[in-house]
Amino acid sequence: MTLSNELPIRRWLRRAGSARLEFGADYNPDQWPREVWDDDVRAMREAGVTIVSLAIFSWARLEPRAGEFDFTWLDEVMDLLHAGGISVDLATATASPPPWLTREHPEILPVTRTGETLWPGARQHWRPTSPVFREHALRLVRELATRYGDHPALVAWHVNNELGCHNVYDYSDDAAAAFRIWLRHRYGTVEALNHAWGTAFWSQRYDDFEEILPPRLAASHPNPTQQLDFKRFSSDALKDHLRAERDLLRELTPEVPVTTNFMVMGQQKPMNYADWAGEVDFVSNDHYVLPGPQARDELSFSANLTGNIAGGRPWFLMEHSTSAVNWQPVNVAKKPGELARDSLTHVAHGADAVCFFQWRQSKAGAEKYHSAMLPHAGTDSDLFRAVARLGERLHELAPVAGSHRRRADVGIIHDWESWWVAEHDSHPTDRLNYPQEALDWYTALLDAGIRADVLPADGPLQEYRLLIAPILHVVPAALADRLRDFVAGGGHLVTTYFSGIVDENDHIWLGGYPGALRDLLGIRIEEFGPLLDDESVELDNGTTGSLWTDRIDVGDDVEVLAHYKTGEQAERAAVTRREVGSGSAAYVSTRLGPDGLAALLPELLGPAGVTGELPPEWGGRVELAIRGDHWFLINRTDEAVDVSALPGAGILEPRGVVVLHRG
Ligand code: GLA
Ligand code: GLA
Repeated sequence: MTLSNELPIRRWLRRAGSARLEFGADYNPDQWPREVWDDDVRAMREAGVTIVSLAIFSWARLEPRAGEFDFTWLDEVMDLLHAGGISVDLATATASPPPWLTREHPEILPVTRTGETLWPGARQHWRPTSPVFREHALRLVRELATRYGDHPALVAWHVNNELGCHNVYDYSDDAAAAFRIWLRHRYGTVEALNHAWGTAFWSQRYDDFEEILPPRLAASHPNPTQQLDFKRFSSDALKDHLRAERDLLRELTPEVPVTTNFMVMGQQKPMNYADWAGEVDFVSNDHYVLPGPQARDELSFSANLTGNIAGGRPWFLMEHSTSAVNWQPVNVAKKPGELARDSLTHVAHGADAVCFFQWRQSKAGAEKYHSAMLPHAGTDSDLFRAVARLGERLHELAPVAGSHRRRADVGIIHDWESWWVAEHDSHPTDRLNYPQEALDWYTALLDAGIRADVLPADGPLQEYRLLIAPILHVVPAALADRLRDFVAGGGHLVTTYFSGIVDENDHIWLGGYPGALRDLLGIRIEEFGPLLDDESVELDNGTTGSLWTDRIDVGDDVEVLAHYKTGEQAERAAVTRREVGSGSAAYVSTRLGPDGLAALLPELLGPAGVTGELPPEWGGRVELAIRGDHWFLINRTDEAVDVSALPGAGILEPRGVVVLHRG
């Protein structure tokens, strides 16, 4: 992972004239008549907007017919924004192909697993691997870069939009051809592929790469390694599109940093962003809150992971919402204080920009019920006033800009390949939820007032005292070695059920589970014991497990931290720990949920020497995140919290955030 996002952000700040936190939104002036634009710029200034992302969905307007470009309106908008002191993150406008293109070239339309075409009428109806789409997209990028590369308002390029949001898994003939090329590159020979895919099974042996297809709708369970490779390939195919646009932009405008908005959030699993992060000049992310008891913690988790895939350096929050979205079954408005708390939680985890979808709430179209900075009600609204207050707050927090995340003592590993494979079909249970297990650990740590970093498996693992690896299912030999070295060096590792089971080809590590980590953990499991939905098991430490159990044989040098009290495994070990020198390796064989994990945590934190940085009497009501010398105290609750134990902190309002400067 090579990250170069520091330099461009500095360049950006120089252009901005001073270090500041950016504030803004996607701006879609082409949805509005000309007379609205002046009002927009005026209201943006009132709200403290510093930057907008422009022209994201403007292809049909910019190129109304093949090869005929009309930039007059965009020229005017760019100039207006510049005159208003607002910077532009200019989109390459390739996210939604115009009708003339799909009419002339229907072969760019994606095809689903079941063979259906995704027709135009929404957005992002393009095959990531279509050479025809690529050619048309790059022609537009060239025109834009040539025309606006020197425009004084331009501070960054915004490649496409949320690559893979709707079109990541394409099963078309283009995808099949590109998949074969990708496989030839990975395996070299068809024999190597046959071995990796285990094609001795069910007569799947290939004689030629040309026989291979994407995992289209099949009669039964598709080959698991074919599925895994198709996931890898699909992430790579979009990364390749990102690189193609980026390379052209770098060639034409080498001074202008390039980004694209990732979707590190919730259940967005197809794009391996840890692998993408090195491709952009600075990392950007979009985040939308999913309702539920851990909604706030999930936001923090995602921001945290984004900050760590950015290598701890500042990143750009490209989109979130001022209030409700429009794409959930029920779209709940944010409660008073949530807008600012959500935004500042991202800043606490390294965001140097707070931007929204979108500036002005649409009057028409599929997103007209999606909140915006300027709502249907206009500037005379509580929402707009809250937005303007947030703008002021970010202005005051300018000294935070540019500061790096301060590393925590605890790391939680987030691994895209484990996520993909652990949730495959034809497994011991289909109830397993990879990100939920990690989030439960994160919540338990927040409840204990402990800071943690969420980081990819190729991150700096050795820097942590305690490393939590929830459902680390795919463990190639090299990763097993790194974990062993971590423990040998005095680190404390905790892993869970269904970890260490397979290698990078999704082949079982034999000899008893969890093969790759068996010796390190000092345990051996012969058979898994997944639980039915209505089953749970009691542990002798007072906690309750669900989802999974294991029948564990424990080695002589292994301590049992908790036993099963009920169920098939009653009397047997449920949670184990093996000391290795001054380090240790622990195993949790069932799903305990945030409360159960909270009960276990002291036994894991103690030996690792991890102590809280906040007064224990705050009782997990406050999240702490640190950037440079800036301590962010975030009220996780809807009630005021007295935080005056820290000098200068006073009372934390319900859902409030206080930022302290501490050495
Ligand atoms: C995504 C897209 C935006 C918009 C928002 C709505 O983030 O990038 O264009 O559709 O979702 O939440
Ligand atoms: C059927 C098939 C076998 C195997 C089993 C698995 O019986 O004939 O090949 O797939 O199901 O339960």
